[in-house]
Amino acid sequence: MGREPEIITSKDKMRRWSRAMRAQGKAIGLVPTMGYLHKGHLALVNEVRQHAQLIVVSIYVNPGQFSTSEDLSTYPSDFNGDLQKLMSVPGGVDVVFNPHDLYDYGSWRGTEGMEKKEDVGEVSCLEEKGGGHETWVRVEKLEKGLCGKSRPLFFRGVATVVSKLFNIVEPDVAVFGKKDYQQWRIIRRMVRDLDFAVKVIGSDIVREDDGLAMSSRNVYLSPEERQKALTINRSLSKAKHAAEEGQINCKILQDSVILAIEEAGGKVDYAEIVDQETLEAVEEIKAPVVICIAAWFGKARLIDNIEINA
Ligand code: PAJ
Repeated sequence: MGREPEIITSKDKMRRWSRAMRAQGKAIGLVPTMGYLHKGHLALVNEVRQHAQLIVVSIYVNPGQFSTSEDLSTYPSDFNGDLQKLMSVPGGVDVVFNPHDLYDYGSWRGTEGMEKKEDVGEVSCLEEKGGGHETWVRVEKLEKGLCGKSRPLFFRGVATVVSKLFNIVEPDVAVFGKKDYQQWRIIRRMVRDLDFAVKVIGSDIVREDDGLAMSSRNVYLSPEERQKALTINRSLSKAKHAAEEGQINCKILQDSVILAIEEAGGKVDYAEIVDQETLEAVEEIKAPVVICIAAWFGKARLIDNIEINA
């Protein structure tokens, strides 16, 4: 077992720690997570170690990115297990930031606070609970497609909490997984557009031995559903292979993926071939693209993707 990280639960203390370390000239790397860690998260820790002397892993299930119909209250957690896993990583980590006061603004209260909801048709858990938070970061075009279609407030919640984490931890580098491809692109764009002094690095998808992309939500799959869900990665790999063999028609490639997943009993939310930078749908593969998928198997909504660097 490696060294124990310092656990910091208040944003003021976190900021003081970071400021003190930066004053000593140390570079800080941040890995934001919602906990229930698996090897995918640990790969991000290993990646960030290449770029920074000190490592902060944040564990925070962010109410701002869950709608009231989603699984905030049942989102899996195992804080002690997470600590053990982080200690087992060679070199360990310096700080686990597990804030209890991220949306707590003390005696300062916003007044009316709550955003008008009619155009989005969905309310985040944070708004339902109240608390006076009313400032949101939106990456307007990138947040609209793919997962944004069925979860219109999701990326607003992600971009806002990541901004807060960047402002509190003041990292030099932050690592995000390409498993959540749209999220990674949105954070990169936000950092560019708002001049955050943070280098954002994308880390490759970590998979189980059988190819299933690792996810905290895989625990919702029954053994049979899990077996069927392997079609996601298999159909993505097949489509990539077909594209490399010369099939550049995106409709044909997308349809083959959708058919395979539906035949396995999955319900496809979307299967789209999009430009890697803009995430805009393309009809023919001429530049680097990514095939992005979201599909339901039982209670689990799984996402996955594969890059094609044409
Ligand atoms: P979470 O789902 O816990 O994921 C934390 C980070 O781990 C994200 O950058 C995600 O892309 C990465 N990750 C998850 N599974 C992975 C896999 N199989 N391979 C590679 N990376 C993987 O994503 C979030 O939390 C939240 O939205 C967050 C960014 C923390 C904001 O609340």
